[in-house]
Amino acid sequence: MSAPASAADQSNAPAWVRHRALRQWVSEVARLSKPERIHWCDGSRAEYDRLCAELERAGTFIRLNEKLRPNSYLARSHPSDVARMEDRTFICSQDKDDAGPTNNWIAPREMRRTLDRLFDGCMRGRTMYVMPFSMGPIGSHIAQIGVEISDSAYVAVNMQIMTRMGRAVAEWLGEDGSFVPGVHSVGVPLAPGKKDVPWPCNEKEKWIVHFPETREIWSYGSGYGGNALLGKKCLALRIASVMARDQGWLAEHMLILGMHSPAGEKSYIAAAFPSACGKTNLAMLIPPPAFKGWKVTTIGEDIAWIKPGRDGRFYAINPEYGLFGVAPGTSEHTNSNAMRMLRENVIFTNVALTPEGDVWWEGMTEQPPARLIDWQGKEWTPQSGRLAAHANARFTVPASQCPSMDPKWEDPQGVPISAFIFGGRRSSTVPLVVEAPSWEEGVYMAATLGSETTAAITGKVGVVRRDPMAMLAFCGYNMGDYFAHWLNMGSTVQHPPKIFRVNWFRRDAQGRFMWPGFGENMRVLQWVVERTRGRTRDVEETSLGLMPRYEDLNWTGLEKLSAARYAELARIDAAAWKDELAAHDELFAKLGKRLPAALDARRGHMHQKLAAQ
Ligand code: OXD
Ligand code: MN
Repeated sequence: MSAPASAADQSNAPAWVRHRALRQWVSEVARLSKPERIHWCDGSRAEYDRLCAELERAGTFIRLNEKLRPNSYLARSHPSDVARMEDRTFICSQDKDDAGPTNNWIAPREMRRTLDRLFDGCMRGRTMYVMPFSMGPIGSHIAQIGVEISDSAYVAVNMQIMTRMGRAVAEWLGEDGSFVPGVHSVGVPLAPGKKDVPWPCNEKEKWIVHFPETREIWSYGSGYGGNALLGKKCLALRIASVMARDQGWLAEHMLILGMHSPAGEKSYIAAAFPSACGKTNLAMLIPPPAFKGWKVTTIGEDIAWIKPGRDGRFYAINPEYGLFGVAPGTSEHTNSNAMRMLRENVIFTNVALTPEGDVWWEGMTEQPPARLIDWQGKEWTPQSGRLAAHANARFTVPASQCPSMDPKWEDPQGVPISAFIFGGRRSSTVPLVVEAPSWEEGVYMAATLGSETTAAITGKVGVVRRDPMAMLAFCGYNMGDYFAHWLNMGSTVQHPPKIFRVNWFRRDAQGRFMWPGFGENMRVLQWVVERTRGRTRDVEETSLGLMPRYEDLNWTGLEKLSAARYAELARIDAAAWKDELAAHDELFAKLGKRLPAALDARRGHMHQKLAAQ
């Protein structure tokens, strides 16, 4: 039975939407933003195809060569709209201290006044798409429902790939299920008769706003990635981290991978890395030939939702349904699973176009093609002296197309986690792998994670920034409280995962990477799994934690990595660590009173150990 449409119901909802409050909210947003029409997305294939055809007619999509890249499209964004905008992202809690010093904050009342101004009539001349979506398998006790309203068809088709979206979710929501509302507008109303541009966005104003107490998201002015696909960073991390704090679980910026040993044992690892540190490659790792019988499978490559299970272990799901991955650097060598995943049904954004109607990006092949059309639609040759694909060019693709997906990737119960890994991009200082001797020390390691910045965010590239747990841009509340939550979560389960810190990016005096990375990371993963199973008892106790000795890692097939070179990779440089600890101090000082005492004590302890080294 559908709710009877009242005079106030201007939601244009189909009969399968029975949720009165949802209809009401959609009516209110429509009254404010004044779209030309309202379309409720049913999530069907026919709807996807129709919207893609419309996007093609509008010039937003270029259909790729059907033989080379079936059912795939290329979109080129406006040059001002190419990445997440952390400086335009706000956590509007009632109390500024609840957002904390690592988030931008504006008082909710003031923010709502601004949003009322921005959204008044902002969808004129456009279609308003309403998208009920589930983060996680529909009905899983770990999943959450969101509803995104957007005036962008590009967002609607991307959301259909990235989330379980449409009628089935509205039906699951029933008459009174709870959902996180998110409103998105590109911020470009269309005057009557005015022709649209291929990538509408507001060049003057962009806002990505979260109200953590009321669990709402409002996004204005950008059509790109995490700014506009509200299920991903906005809901699955910023809002979900707040829910997780209040309800006793974890919403983390982590991949989840499965390790399958030749003896048939299975272990799952969740790993946090800041943006563009190779999470997708690690999640889809193919072990080197020496690892006969070992297999790595993928549960997720960006976000993990983790809940204590009845058996005393943490269980994790991947709340996403697709990938919005960084294209540059992806190749047969770095990630052949991803290359296979990208053969069809893909939306590419800001990559280059070949004369044959296929795509290309830096790193895809050793030799670039002789001629291309670059991400801005301009003629390009290898002599052009500029990138053909934007450094943050992306692909949107269904996760089900990834050849390494684990049979349990859609299991509503999730998978048990044996280890957490935290890693950053550090050209010096941080050793290849360290195990935390205790949960508290692990939380300290994770809290003080630092990484050199990349193109996934706007701003300077190559500067070390503290990125606690890789959540700097994604924690929806005070970072000190987040650390306290992590410390507490360790005691909510009987078997908390072991915690490790890794660094694949250390360089030698000549500036060359010392560690081969990619598939070879398996050597470290194997040690991690063996440690969680209590097999390798001999380790080196260092001032940073427990480290494998050279003979503890499996070097078969990589004998060229000599003991001397390993010693360099594992070296603890006391002078560099003095600076490193000063950077930890800076972060901790910023958190002031909200820094848990246990972490402050850990820091003191480490200072002492390093001084005694
Ligand atoms: C992402 C990011 O897009 O972290 O996943 O920037
Ligand atoms: Mn990410």
